[in-house]
Amino acid sequence: MTDKTAGGDVRLTGISKTYGSFTAVHPLDLTVPEGSFFALLGASGCGKTTTLRMIAGLEDPTTGSVFLGDRDVTDLPPYKRPVNTVFQSYALFPHLTIHENVAFGLRRRGIKSVKKQVDEMLELVQLGDKARHKPHQLSGGQQQRVAVARALINHPQVLLLDEPLGALDLKLRRQMQLELKRIQTEVGITFVHVTHDQEEAMTMADTVAVMNGGRVEQLGAPSELYENPQTTFVANFLGTSNLIEAEVAEAAGGEVVVTAADAKLRLPTARCATLPRTGGKLLVGVRPEKISLAHADDAGDISEGRNRFTGKIADSSFIGVSTQFVIDSPVCPELEVYVQNVERDPRLVPGAEVVLHWNPQHTFGLDAAMDIDAGVETVEETA
Ligand SMILES: Nc1ncnc2c1ncn2[C@@H]1O[C@H](COP(=O)(O)OP(=O)(O)OP(=O)(O)O)[C@@H](O)[C@H]1O
Ligand SMILES: [Mg+2]
Repeated sequence: MTDKTAGGDVRLTGISKTYGSFTAVHPLDLTVPEGSFFALLGASGCGKTTTLRMIAGLEDPTTGSVFLGDRDVTDLPPYKRPVNTVFQSYALFPHLTIHENVAFGLRRRGIKSVKKQVDEMLELVQLGDKARHKPHQLSGGQQQRVAVARALINHPQVLLLDEPLGALDLKLRRQMQLELKRIQTEVGITFVHVTHDQEEAMTMADTVAVMNGGRVEQLGAPSELYENPQTTFVANFLGTSNLIEAEVAEAAGGEVVVTAADAKLRLPTARCATLPRTGGKLLVGVRPEKISLAHADDAGDISEGRNRFTGKIADSSFIGVSTQFVIDSPVCPELEVYVQNVERDPRLVPGAEVVLHWNPQHTFGLDAAMDIDAGVETVEETA
């Protein structure tokens, strides 16, 4: 790994892009730490590629500046920036061998003895035995690795990747995610990776910036985004959240008490993204895997101090490691609950009356003025 510098490797200050009257990227401040794997995540059209192209110099920002290290590169043309880009269509030269494809950047700079460096790069991407092949003799994943080797051989300060795995099938994509992560750890170069796949971003990145409508909604480590979403968009876009419309009954000390239908729920004040006020509204969130289900006949066995309310199983699907239930309740329609298949209760079938319960610590609070469904439709897997 390279040394971390306080300045950060890529710094965007007030950067924006408008096309006529349309704003593709709103003024944005972003620092990508040196040596990190950084993901820009968001649905189609949210401004990911535009942001990446402004870093690469392929797009002029309407406002703002791009810094690489301490250097302002805003006015530099792409080829003068210490940056390389890998696109979804890897565009290898079909008539050149893999060796020559990787050597291309060195040859263009007039470097004659390239063999050692090319061999090293091909080892790095585990294609040492394919040097004499042509691109069409390689699988999609192998071609993608050639594209990465071809970019890395120039020793860029930053590697930009725009949906590089988009053309691969799901299984190969999963493999390549781990492979890219390994390569990044090995070379220690800053990677900025654009994707619309939340699982991909969470698997690979140290830090994820979630974009929505040309803005960064939230930025943080994957676990931080998942456990403490600050907006309904992030709560719904990263995994699944149950969001319950509730009224604040008490907000004192470290705990907030809310009511929703006939239920009284508690949550830590520290997990509220907005200041809860007594009498005000709050969206109360809980992830599906945090909730336990008890058959109504066993309600007496649930320990004190847990959040709980009753509902009815509307649907259930067995998916191997877990069973995913949809529960209808006056507290909230269509709650999702994931139960690990350890000891399956045969009574938990559609129509059964159940009690949902969970540790109040696993509850978060969001501003009730936000759109409760933001980010829901976009979560679908497009692979
Ligand atoms: N040259 C252009 N002229 C006008 N509008 C543009 C231009 N380039 C991009 N846009 C618009 O800017 C918005 C952001 O585009 P961008 O390509 O950055 O999205 P994206 O997040 O990369 O999406 P995707 O996941 O589909 O690649 C889109 O609404 C797009 O239509
Ligand atoms: Mg794009």
